[in-house]
Amino acid sequence: MNEELYDKARDAAANAYAPYSNFHVGAVVVADDGRVFEGCNVENAAYGSGICAEGNAISSAAASGVRKIDTVVIACLDAGECYPCGNCRQLMREFSVDTVVVQDGSGALRVHSFDEILPHSFGPDSLGDG
Ligand code: THU
Repeated sequence: MNEELYDKARDAAANAYAPYSNFHVGAVVVADDGRVFEGCNVENAAYGSGICAEGNAISSAAASGVRKIDTVVIACLDAGECYPCGNCRQLMREFSVDTVVVQDGSGALRVHSFDEILPHSFGPDSLGDG
């Protein structure tokens, strides 16, 4: 199952628009209702306006009404290990991601709990009543 999702993430990475970094990343999101969404990184001449593959996939899921994500699978065509950036870890936190799957650089996948990816995190449930 994770292998199939990873293959799908690699397909998404092939669509990455990464003329500045040449770093092609794809992500697949599995929602709690089983729907699957994908994204790739989309860079911009104004570098800071680029978006990561994970953020793209998460935004796509949210735009289709998803509010709980079970799993995020990440593939990179240009590196061995590829872990999500800090900002994407926080984006995952918002939608209560349980599991993050990454490539290990030798053809195998690593399955992480979200707490391993972003321990002691801040999220919607951390806000007080104001
Ligand atoms: N990138 C992602 O899309 N996801 C990651 O997990 C790491 C980095 C993108 C951002 C940028 O377009 C390029 O890879 C180089 O940082």
